Amino acid sequence: MSHIANIELHSPPLTKSAVCETHGDYESRCYLGKIWTACPACADDQSKKERTEAEAKEQAARVESWRRKIGEAGIPERFRDRRISTYAATLPGQQRALDFAKAYAAQFGEIRKTGRSALFIGLPGTGKTHLAVGIGLEVMEHHGAAVLFTTVMRAVRRVKDTWGRGSRESESEAIAALVFPDLLILDEVGVQFGSDTEKLLLFDILNERYEKRRPTILMSNLPIDEVVTYLGARVFDRLREGGGEFISFTWESYRKTGTHGAEGI
Ligand SMILES: Nc1ncnc2c1ncn2[C@@H]1O[C@H](COP(=O)(O)OP(=O)(O)OP(=O)(O)O)[C@@H](O)[C@H]1O
Ligand SMILES: [Mg+2]
Ligand SMILES: [Zn+2]
Repeated sequence: MSHIANIELHSPPLTKSAVCETHGDYESRCYLGKIWTACPACADDQSKKERTEAEAKEQAARVESWRRKIGEAGIPERFRDRRISTYAATLPGQQRALDFAKAYAAQFGEIRKTGRSALFIGLPGTGKTHLAVGIGLEVMEHHGAAVLFTTVMRAVRRVKDTWGRGSRESESEAIAALVFPDLLILDEVGVQFGSDTEKLLLFDILNERYEKRRPTILMSNLPIDEVVTYLGARVFDRLREGGGEFISFTWESYRKTGTHGAEGI
């Protein structure tokens, strides 16, 4: 005969008073055999603790997945906290640049369809990279956009690296990876003298993005006419189409005057 069959059911349950070391007196009940309920406040505490732990774990997972996303977007470690909201605007030019960045991020739903690009030009240390990264973080967070941050040098090298024997990536795959993102942030345009190969590759990438109506934000220290020469009129015209804007950053470097005194190069 089964053991279970012998267990006695108590209806109504038996009761007795019991004492919890933490919560004091409580009524313990017995519904079945000799199994008495434990302190209900302890059970409450335990489930609260489990809920808090689960929430903390979820939060940690969210942070980790955000970190991974930023990493995959190529956003440099020391720029990961450069948000639009942390850009200080004390000069009129800074205010214009900030307003532009805010509007660009806010309108990205539309911009990702029209492919409206932007060109940040001006002096070193004026916050071009800061604001471009700020836009990138914003559209990743609020528009679920795929963003890629890179420099012209790195973009070109990535494609050139596929020319070597035994490269795991093909040239078209490398170009596709640069064309794919909803927003490409291309820093340091014209830092090195552009070879014809470099210009051709850049044209391929920007032209394909143009044809697919995908926006690009470019940054350069060169004056506008030299940017045009560097990129070539054909690329430049494509950037202008669809309302592409140039934002000038023409004030003193924040690296000297700002609070980021320890900023390395
Ligand atoms: N208006 C600002 N408010 C807050 N931080 C700023 C501002 N302008 C620049 N910075 C900070 O100063 C440093 C230099 O800015 P950033 O690297 O964006 O300049 P840049 O214009 O890209 O310079 P470069 O042309 O040399 O690349 C960064 O740490 C950036 O966060
Ligand atoms: Mg920069
Ligand atoms: Zn208890």
